[in-house]
Amino acid sequence: MADSPVPVRIRQLSDLLSRHNYRYYVLDDPEISDAEYDRLMLELRELERQHPEFVSEDSPTQRVGATPVESFGVVRHPVPLLSLGNAFDREELIAWHRRVTNLLDGRPFSMVCELKMDGLAVALVYEQGRLARGATRGDGTQGENITQNLRTMKSIPLTLQGDYPPRIEVRGEVYLTKAGFAALNEERARQGLPLYANPRNSAAGSVRQLDPRITAARPLAIYVYGVGWSEGGGEALPRTHWDMMAYCREVGFRVNPLSRRFDDIDTVAAFCESWIQGRHSLPYDADGVVVKVDSLNYQQQLGFVGREPRWAIAYKFPSVQGITKLIDIGVNVGRTGSLNPYAILEPVQVGGVTIRHAALHNEDDIRRKDIRIGDFVIVQRAGEVIPEVVGPVLSRRTGAELVAFSLPDRCPECGAAVVRPEGEAMAYCPNRACPAQGYELLKHFVSRGAMDIEGIGESLCAALLEKGLVGDVADIYALTSEQLESLERMGKKSAANVIDAIQRSRTRPLSNILFALGIRHVGAETAALLVEHLGSLDAIAASSMEALTAIPGIGPKLAESIFDYFHPTDGETESAGILLVDKLRRAGVVLAAEKPVARPTPLAGMEFVFTGRLDRLTRGSAEAMVKRLGARAAGNITKKTTHVVVGEEAGTKAERAAQLGIPQMSENEFLAFIDAARSA
Ligand code: IVH
Repeated sequence: MADSPVPVRIRQLSDLLSRHNYRYYVLDDPEISDAEYDRLMLELRELERQHPEFVSEDSPTQRVGATPVESFGVVRHPVPLLSLGNAFDREELIAWHRRVTNLLDGRPFSMVCELKMDGLAVALVYEQGRLARGATRGDGTQGENITQNLRTMKSIPLTLQGDYPPRIEVRGEVYLTKAGFAALNEERARQGLPLYANPRNSAAGSVRQLDPRITAARPLAIYVYGVGWSEGGGEALPRTHWDMMAYCREVGFRVNPLSRRFDDIDTVAAFCESWIQGRHSLPYDADGVVVKVDSLNYQQQLGFVGREPRWAIAYKFPSVQGITKLIDIGVNVGRTGSLNPYAILEPVQVGGVTIRHAALHNEDDIRRKDIRIGDFVIVQRAGEVIPEVVGPVLSRRTGAELVAFSLPDRCPECGAAVVRPEGEAMAYCPNRACPAQGYELLKHFVSRGAMDIEGIGESLCAALLEKGLVGDVADIYALTSEQLESLERMGKKSAANVIDAIQRSRTRPLSNILFALGIRHVGAETAALLVEHLGSLDAIAASSMEALTAIPGIGPKLAESIFDYFHPTDGETESAGILLVDKLRRAGVVLAAEKPVARPTPLAGMEFVFTGRLDRLTRGSAEAMVKRLGARAAGNITKKTTHVVVGEEAGTKAERAAQLGIPQMSENEFLAFIDAARSA
């Protein structure tokens, strides 16, 4: 090979790189490693450097070759790019189907359902198989010439493969992944630039950069969804939309693998509705499902009204973002003493729910996003997760906003000086006697998954503390029916029920008890892991840091928290944790480990892959969870994978899973799934 004449080798390398590009971006099935790809690219670069006369415009090295422009030229679209009519619910979708059926004189027809990507529409013209021009949709008849920028996107082929007409225009949506969007906004916040409100704006902003190098640095991708027009050889093209998409894929375009074709509208509606929740586990934003009549002949027959085709409709998902005013930032104290800032908002409707409060995570996060009291902020609801503040709308600042928020130096509940452990994002109230912590801890102690004491809810917890009937969680075991009956709204019968429930809780499994203690960072899974490895509460309390970190899934931060809990802090002669455990033991709580019994394995035969960053679990504890229930955990998606859990910034694994039709779930869905499996 190395002996081939230079132009031949250059051609070979270009073709090889294009093919590997196709396998990577379109098929999501790379044949070679990134390092090998880079090696081929390096060889090509070097040859082209030595022989500039052989550099062709569609060489893979030329994607970021162009110099910045002052403005974009205007492109006229020979066939206008249309918009879509919307259906906001099942009835409107069915009404559309009825209209089409009538227009087709009752003839049955198939429909293709495609996710409606929330990005920017572009039209790509290929002449003799080479990318000649790329343009934005603009007003539909005129767009901007952004060829240089689109050329930088590796998921847009510079040359087509196989058979193609001499001229063809392909249309699609350029988008940013959720992770790419978040990273971009974070970077902009750091630089004090206005944040993009949503992935569509960010994709549009990225593609419309005058300097193509900026576009090249943005993680843009495309899904192609139609052919606008073709010249010469058009008769050889497929006659259904479904086959046309398969054809687009063959010649080199990325086509969304989640598209489906159905014959009846009920299945179409079910598909659309399944994505209302399902979209949250996708790596990109979709704002609906586009339903299209499959037959291109029928499409032609149906035509347009105004700017909207009769042959397609967008089923729109309820929105998940809204903009409202941040009235104030409150701080509540969690059971481990963590100070949790939260947003107090002017009420806003998002996806049919009124939002008044939203999470703000921690002080660093607020500062990084430069969120100020008085700002207009973007709030977001995703699935079942607590709504969160995405960031400020800087363009709506008037200057009247207050300065940046900072956490109080003292606990808002007990006044203790706040501490912030090194390397941690959270600040804590260190006072174990803090009433707010006491309340949160009591609620946690009696909750399901912990001591599971039915009948003690939030208001009873508050009343018990307020009346001084309970000072710490162990005092629950000294409560009498008379004391309970003395409380408001507590009859004889309910008091007796509570006493019964308290009695039953004395024999909860050791892992529940350990979890109930509310040790910082120790969730139910870690508790189970500790019991499994160390056997008894005394052994856990006596473990060294080394012994704790030796347990798979337990890192130094976690180990330190456990160790600290069972050891006296400065000024204590004995550890408050040990004292509490002793008190529980004396109160008759059984602290023996469960006898090892054959564990049920409801997830036997399943194989999980975790991808992306999980927020509530560590990768290790998530894997331990599924293993404990009989499933396997693997690092890569293979034919054996049965479930994929997709976290933040998930990469191509999520898309690969989608292609293989492997069910995906978010972290929250995963936790619910595990819960259900456990109680099965
Ligand atoms: S078809 C005449 N398919 O939605 C049909 N559009 O509101 C026009 N979009 O401008 C487009 N995903 O930017 C179609 N699978 C998809 C789409 C899609 C996203 C966007 C596109 C278009 C807008 C129409």
